[in-house]
Amino acid sequence: MTARVLLTGGAGFIGSHTYLALLEAGFEVVIVDDFSNAEQSVPDRLEEITGTAPRVIRADVSDAAALASVFAAERIDAVIHFAARKSVPQSLARPQGFFDANIAALLTLLRVMDRHRVATLVYSSSATVYGQPEALPIPEHAPLGYTNPYGLSKLMGEQFLNQCVRTRPDWAVGILRYFNPAGAHPSGLIGEAPLSDGGNLMPLVARVARGELPAIDIHGRDYGTPDGTGVRDFIHVSDLAEGHVLSLDRLLRHRRSHTVNLGRGQGYSVLEVVKAYERASGRRIPYRFRSRREGDVAASYADPSMARAVLGFQASRDLNDMCRSSWAWETRSSAGLTAAVPVWSMTATQSLPNLSA
Ligand SMILES: NC(=O)c1ccc[n+]([C@@H]2O[C@H](COP(=O)([O-])OP(=O)(O)OC[C@H]3O[C@@H](n4cnc5c(N)ncnc54)[C@H](O)[C@@H]3O)[C@@H](O)[C@H]2O)c1
Repeated sequence: MTARVLLTGGAGFIGSHTYLALLEAGFEVVIVDDFSNAEQSVPDRLEEITGTAPRVIRADVSDAAALASVFAAERIDAVIHFAARKSVPQSLARPQGFFDANIAALLTLLRVMDRHRVATLVYSSSATVYGQPEALPIPEHAPLGYTNPYGLSKLMGEQFLNQCVRTRPDWAVGILRYFNPAGAHPSGLIGEAPLSDGGNLMPLVARVARGELPAIDIHGRDYGTPDGTGVRDFIHVSDLAEGHVLSLDRLLRHRRSHTVNLGRGQGYSVLEVVKAYERASGRRIPYRFRSRREGDVAASYADPSMARAVLGFQASRDLNDMCRSSWAWETRSSAGLTAAVPVWSMTATQSLPNLSA
């Protein structure tokens, strides 16, 4: 029988791309989303791409009763848990809300899954759990830490899940530590459309390309990197989506839990991203160099060897693919970026674009 997967937050950026990858791999999918950070049009756009209306249930995953009714009504074999809040600045402003949204909701989900005998889960974690990395590339056994409440919420989520796997041998959990997701589906129909400030670099570069922001502030031009600007491991969201399919497949087939990095294993500098986006968009993207900020690291990129060995995962799309698809999304989408977010900058707690997201 075809496995049926519940995607919490499946209308969001990574969730919607994973929906497409799962469908392509032959899974059945049910999306649960409260649309707190997703455009209402996402289901229609998914239908436009696939030709079939997705099964979408509007619910808040921290609402135990609503979640229980989803599990009672639908046959669910496994869950991929994307639903979370991800804005680092917002987590600093109101940490409690983040712990409710990211930790309390995870515990509710685990309880409801347990009650309905669903014991297979893929969890969206982040490179933010490495805090300030000590050495590069970053392997999964690197020391863990956090630099803001969002990072703490992801780390605590991992720890709850590790505890769950230790005490419940019937559970199979895949913890995926994303590096810096970017890009969009090549159709230009879905992409990153935060209704709130996620702080990611590429959407902000896109806003400059669209003329909505005057320039990108680049903090630090004297790092020990090839062009002096910070380096991060940007990975195409479609590659990331395929990583989820591989993780889920391994859990369902072999019941072997795993924690892996999902990155390219290679960094691109902030300036490289700006230049690549200029080529992709055909627009000039002004930037201003600012001084370094305390807490920023020069470079961060994954050691991708564990993901290759355990999942057979290898990212195949490069920075040009990310910029081209992002621009296709930005120009095609009437949604685009709607939030009033500041010009992107590196802060001590934000630690470069999306290291913490
Ligand atoms: N995008 C990144 O840069 C990045 C990096 C590392 C990790 N992550 C993690 O990946 C996951 C997905 O990120 P994303 O970029 O797709 O974010 P996103 O905001 O685009 O997607 C999250 C989705 O979850 C939904 N949601 C939020 N709270 C919910 C709730 N209580 N109940 C139901 N739905 C809810 C939102 O409406 C949205 O559709 C998150 O857990 C995030 O922390 C993201």
